[in-house]
Amino acid sequence: MPRQFFVGGNFKMNGSLESISKIVTTLNEGNITAPTEVVIAPPSLYLLSVKDKIRKEIAVSAQNSYIIASGAFTGEISPHQLKDAGIPWVIIGHSERRTLFGDTDKLVAQKTKTALDAGLSVILCIGETLEERESNKTIAVVEKQLAAVKAEISDWKNVVIAYEPVWAIGTGKVATSAQAQEVHHALRGWLSKEIGQDVAQSTRIIYGGSVSAKNSKELGEHLSHVFQLVRMIAAQPDVDGFLVGGASLKPEFIEIINAGS
Ligand code: G3P
Repeated sequence: MPRQFFVGGNFKMNGSLESISKIVTTLNEGNITAPTEVVIAPPSLYLLSVKDKIRKEIAVSAQNSYIIASGAFTGEISPHQLKDAGIPWVIIGHSERRTLFGDTDKLVAQKTKTALDAGLSVILCIGETLEERESNKTIAVVEKQLAAVKAEISDWKNVVIAYEPVWAIGTGKVATSAQAQEVHHALRGWLSKEIGQDVAQSTRIIYGGSVSAKNSKELGEHLSHVFQLVRMIAAQPDVDGFLVGGASLKPEFIEIINAGS
């Protein structure tokens, strides 16, 4: 069964009622021609308003959730309350949560389990730092991150894995299609060995890190317009889509969604 191309838009802590309403209008009016599964993650404050206004083909995601359903956890987001509010997705383990807010591999795994148990689908983020890549530890690092999740969950059908090399996030230094494919292929191999062939074949593994329609100029002019790099990455056999940050706030996000055509 071919894996449906998947594009997530992580707005991070950006936007306002006005600007996010404009993004929703752009997406509602956009010409989405590819059979891509699209999920957008606005800041928590705007989840309900976006859910109520966005076209039905696009789902809404939180950017984080906690390990407990309810209680004295000031400021945290309950996965069960997300489910109750009709928010079907949540991003867990983004590198900014790991580096800035202390989300450990174990906490990410526990958050993933609690979100899945609450009935949510999870975009599970993994990725190495520049230092780890330069020390040839990339595969070991991402496999360790997945192993922590394996220790907590048994059902992977509602998990999309997002490989986001930390050194490519927000830097404009996008991974090459060969770099992305190498890691995605290793991750699919790990799934096959550790979880099973069915999960390995069905799990979407998406790439994140400076994906945009603009950074493809680095590849020179020999490829078609605008999307050179995005299409090259999308054409890789083990790359099933993208998790997009900055570019998800711009009209070019539609073009990235259509890269799956
Ligand atoms: O979650 C996606 C994000 O980390 C990538 O950000 O701005 O490099 O596309 P950006």
